[in-house]
Amino acid sequence: MSFIEVAKTTEIPNGQMKSFSTAGKEILVTNYEGNYFAIDAKCTHMGGKLINGKLEGKIVTCPVHGARFDVTTGVSVSGPKLGPIKLKAKNLAIYEVKVDNKIIAININE
Ligand code: FES
Repeated sequence: MSFIEVAKTTEIPNGQMKSFSTAGKEILVTNYEGNYFAIDAKCTHMGGKLINGKLEGKIVTCPVHGARFDVTTGVSVSGPKLGPIKLKAKNLAIYEVKVDNKIIAININE
């Protein structure tokens, strides 16, 4: 296990997200109802930056083709839409999060 500290809890208020580059990965950390979750920050379809997408509740929508992911599980809840064509997107990797003394740390070895 290798937890890396990425932010203070005050930097990511409820309903907000922030992305970090660490250990060669881009990770999106979200505060959903006071709990913190970490998933890959790049869409599994074509690498869209989810930090530029829209977060509604626990669902983030990719800004490129609209794939939607549950930020608490990384699960793809709907795929990209290319015109009339609906595709499927793979789930995002999810990382264990630890909050200690108001510091958010992510286990990047999962
Ligand atoms: S890159 Fe995210 S939906 Fe296409």
